[in-house]
Amino acid sequence: MFRIEKISSFNSPELQPYATMKRPLEHERQGIFVAEGVKVVRRLLESHFAVASVVLPEKWLETFRPLIETRAEQITVYLAEKKFLEGLVGFSMFQGVLAVGKMPPPVSPDDILQKSPKPRLFVAVDALTNAENLGALVRNCVAFGVQALIVGETSSSPFLRRAVRNSMGTIFQLPVIEAGSSRRDDRTAQRAVPTLAKTLRDLRARGIRCIAAHPHTDQKILSQADFTGDCCFIFGSEGNGISPPVLEACDEAVAIPMPPMVDSLNVGAAAAVFLYEASRQRKRF
Ligand SMILES: C[S@@+](CC[C@H](N)C(=O)[O-])C[C@H]1O[C@@H](n2cnc3c(N)ncnc32)[C@H](O)[C@@H]1O
Repeated sequence: MFRIEKISSFNSPELQPYATMKRPLEHERQGIFVAEGVKVVRRLLESHFAVASVVLPEKWLETFRPLIETRAEQITVYLAEKKFLEGLVGFSMFQGVLAVGKMPPPVSPDDILQKSPKPRLFVAVDALTNAENLGALVRNCVAFGVQALIVGETSSSPFLRRAVRNSMGTIFQLPVIEAGSSRRDDRTAQRAVPTLAKTLRDLRARGIRCIAAHPHTDQKILSQADFTGDCCFIFGSEGNGISPPVLEACDEAVAIPMPPMVDSLNVGAAAAVFLYEASRQRKRF
């Protein structure tokens, strides 16, 4: 079900999410996010995520029509030329195709554990603030079969526009646990999820090995690590790595060996290496 509206002014309240794209906290509070680009918007429309509206230049309408027609919810499709849209959003765009989606209800570690077959594979991020890196990490998680992403209380949301874009829309396939979040699912009155350190201790108590990816540990290097059982990899921030309380909550730390003149890899690259190694050991490929 959808209706088409040609945009003639920026004043409609429904267009506000597009006009406030540089104010992501407002979006987070409203439980919405913006998807950007033809591929990402297509993946959003193919997903089970609720969609509020789509904005596109008229030449894209027939490409998207069949997908929008399959949706059960009422979606407004706003038509506007790219130049006009750039005036609305405040920056230049490649294709001028955008959509507003609704963040899914929060999920708990219990939900995820029930739904995830063994051997389980989870990823957690501690204080990861760069949205592009977070998006790249999400893309790696989906590529290597991660069953859930645990986002620490000091990390950025994977639903920031740049994170959604860099994930190439794969975020719509990955369950996200928001550690330390007070966001509730009103339908199930689900309780808030504890902090990342506490969530990791709870996972360990349930037999999930929590493995910190740490460039400077002398505990173990990647080729010595066993990823065949249930495990959760923890990745740290761009500047300071994994914080002491989160590191303390892990079972062990593992490094990808590096030459002395290199401090570390980009977190997305480190995640790809760890996840490939887990897939290799589990004979997924
Ligand atoms: C840019 S690094 C952080 C560098 C930071 N100076 C430190 O000392 O941890 C971001 C994250 O990527 C992961 N990482 C990067 N290089 C790694 C390596 N060689 N071995 C294991 N993890 C690595 C870690 O989780 C790290 O916290």
